[in-house]
Amino acid sequence: MSWGTIFLTVHLLGVALWFGGAFYERIFVFAGVREHQGSPMELVYTKVMLKTQPFFLVSVLLLLIGGVGMTIFYRLGFLPASWLGIKQGLAIVMVAIFAGYIGPTMKKTEQQVQALGDKAATVTPEIRRNVHNFQLALDIVHVGLVINFLLGIWQPF
Ligand code: HEM
Repeated sequence: MSWGTIFLTVHLLGVALWFGGAFYERIFVFAGVREHQGSPMELVYTKVMLKTQPFFLVSVLLLLIGGVGMTIFYRLGFLPASWLGIKQGLAIVMVAIFAGYIGPTMKKTEQQVQALGDKAATVTPEIRRNVHNFQLALDIVHVGLVINFLLGIWQPF
């Protein structure tokens, strides 16, 4: 098996985990937070959502290792004027939104949830606002994920 095949496998494993995980979270966990607003279940769903961070970090890392690996192995170049360049550019924007806004907001929210202790009945309005904001930012990042998925499959130009 060549390095190219290994990188493609790692890349597609990252894509599958990220896509599947984000889809599940968007449909079931985000909806759970919204549906149970003001009840103890809102706190439970919020905690579940915050716990998914390592899973998504590993998925994105696999995707990037595979993508960068293939780019180097096949000498495709970085930011070429093609579907690959757009994919790489979008990935940079997505990582920047995560590192600059989503990651820090989730970390802050995690500390606020921890500070509530075990006896809290639900989340505070500030936690609810933070969750709403990073959900919105994640939706924007996931639009990039879908575009990159389609570009990777169609490779149109
Ligand atoms: C960010 C989200 C991304 C998604 C959802 C994604 C998705 C995909 C998909 C579905 C394929 C098709 C594989 C196939 O048909 O065999 C592919 C191929 C590929 N991707 Fe990505 N990708 C992403 C980011 C990147 C990045 C950042 C790079 C480079 C740094 C990259 C480099 C490549 C390369 C080189 C291929 C090669 C395909 C070939 O030789 O056929 N991808 N990607």
